[in-house]
Amino acid sequence: MKLNISNHIKEIVPYPPGKPLEELERELGITGSIKLASNENPWGPSPKAVDAIGNHLTNLHRYPDGSGHYLTNMLAKKMGVSSEEIVLGNGSNEIIEFLVKAFIRSGDEVITSHPSFLMYQKFVQIRGGENIVIPLREMTHDLDAIQKAVTNRTRLIFLDNPNNPCGTVISRQDFNSFLAALPEEVVVVLDEAYVDFLPEDERIDILSLIRIPENIPAVVSLRTFSKAYGLAGLRVGFGIMHPEIAQILHRVRQPFNINLLGQIGALAALTDEEHYLKTIQGTLDGKEWLTRKIDELGCKVFRSYANFFLIDIFNDATKLYEAMLRQGVIVRAMKAYGFPNYIRLTVGTHEENERFMKAFEICLRELNYV
Ligand SMILES: Cc1ncc(COP(=O)(O)O)c(C=O)c1O
Repeated sequence: MKLNISNHIKEIVPYPPGKPLEELERELGITGSIKLASNENPWGPSPKAVDAIGNHLTNLHRYPDGSGHYLTNMLAKKMGVSSEEIVLGNGSNEIIEFLVKAFIRSGDEVITSHPSFLMYQKFVQIRGGENIVIPLREMTHDLDAIQKAVTNRTRLIFLDNPNNPCGTVISRQDFNSFLAALPEEVVVVLDEAYVDFLPEDERIDILSLIRIPENIPAVVSLRTFSKAYGLAGLRVGFGIMHPEIAQILHRVRQPFNINLLGQIGALAALTDEEHYLKTIQGTLDGKEWLTRKIDELGCKVFRSYANFFLIDIFNDATKLYEAMLRQGVIVRAMKAYGFPNYIRLTVGTHEENERFMKAFEICLRELNYV
């Protein structure tokens, strides 16, 4: 076999997903391990979503509604926009892919921060676009440096807010000044995968921004059912944007990109306010409890607005990550993100947080880190 693959594809390093629980348990011959590595919802899916999905299993021989009519309409109502301003994706990942497909031709530039969500750069690489990567400043998006990096080839700017992995946010005022200083032709993508964990008054006012197409660049907000709604396995996300951009993205999507159970599950999850609020409150409480306990051990917790946070252990974090695996606890080592002494921890249920703390202390002592 002789394959003719272009260099920009050969150079792509596949996305490193968090280690699956099943794999760890198989490797170590253990059971009952926990995963606090992929910012999932530890309280599981909404019971209403599970019920609704159960009721639709006998329809699996049918194609789903290609327009996602009911889900789009319900989201539009909930978000206070029209259904023309919503585009559904197979996870918010797919909306990122649509944006890059629609706006990037070989040689076009896309600005991202480092570290931030890795998939922006990968989709740009696939398309043969050019990634312009600006380091975070004090763990937040360096909006001044990003603005200075804009050229007449810049098409998209991706900003995750809260940022993954730091959990930091951009203030409304900074974001508005940033937009005002950009050329109108650029599209700014605000990836709000974790926005549900952010107090309302600290969120960017996305609705007013998507409706002001004149004088400032277009803004697209990305949302997901994978985090606060606990449906990561179903793969449903959506974007909120000006209808003209939505029309463009519909041209590059597959006709049935949101599967039947995804539509049903997401629709039901939207009606389960109780599960949603339990998740938000449980995350805030867990973050506070973990911060206090980790602090007592002499490690540094960075303030985060998301359902995860970084911990500086002042020593090689990859070794700690490996020791934690042997205790049956999966976290993220941050070396690949440029933080060799940090781990990223997803907030779990209280039982999981206790289990983490126990293993964390054992491993820190075993490695003589405390
Ligand atoms: C910042 C950010 N954006 C997007 C995603 C992708 O989410 P989805 O499951 O909706 O594709 C993630 C997933 O971890 C993320 O951290």
